[in-house]
Amino acid sequence: MRVNWRSRSVWWGVFGGSLIPLSERLYQMFWGDLGTDPGKTLTESLGTIALCFLGMTLAITPLKRWFSLSLVHLRRMQGLFTFFYASLHVGAYLLFLADWSAFMDDVIKRPYIFVGLAAFLILLALAATSFKTMMRRLGRHWKTLHRLVYPAGVLVVVHYAWQSRGDYTTLFIYSLSLLLLLSARLPQRVFHSARSPEPE
Ligand code: HEM
Repeated sequence: MRVNWRSRSVWWGVFGGSLIPLSERLYQMFWGDLGTDPGKTLTESLGTIALCFLGMTLAITPLKRWFSLSLVHLRRMQGLFTFFYASLHVGAYLLFLADWSAFMDDVIKRPYIFVGLAAFLILLALAATSFKTMMRRLGRHWKTLHRLVYPAGVLVVVHYAWQSRGDYTTLFIYSLSLLLLLSARLPQRVFHSARSPEPE
């Protein structure tokens, strides 16, 4: 059976699937066991989910380029889910781990929080300008702005690396995946600037 990737049912399937991690976390929160430090477990797992969604969003270009699988119509939804889970991660941090009165101290004294905040602000800007009206208003600047998703990916991996305590295997996997996802763009840019003035 051939799958029509542009069909409505695929869109709804991906939308519903993207809500599964949320339902799982809610179930664990109310009826399950989140261990001895539930706030920390929840913050960590929501951060990991946000990172995975960012990876899926970044994978759309390589999938098209390397496997001719066009999922471009799902990119906006995946990007918005990245922002959604990143917001839940930041919300869980503020609710369970942060000392509100010393938040700015945290940002200054803990570099990984500073880097996480920078990544979050980029994701916020991308989510806020992901709608058709903003696309029209920003014109050619829209694409330039949305290329910030790549630095955001780098910042998130740095954020992860800075706070991870000795888990180098996961860090290696995240960094390698990010490099692979970014490499789908870099050679193309070098190639284009050297050989032809055509846009991608
Ligand atoms: C204001 C912005 C942010 C703050 C304050 C923040 C805060 C934190 C904190 C406190 C931790 C460590 C939790 C612990 O082990 O004690 C953490 C880990 C993490 N954060 Fe963030 N974060 C921010 C932005 C982001 C963004 C935008 C992403 C991804 C899109 C992200 C992904 C992660 C990941 C993957 C981890 C590691 C989880 C693990 O150890 O399994 N964070 N963050």
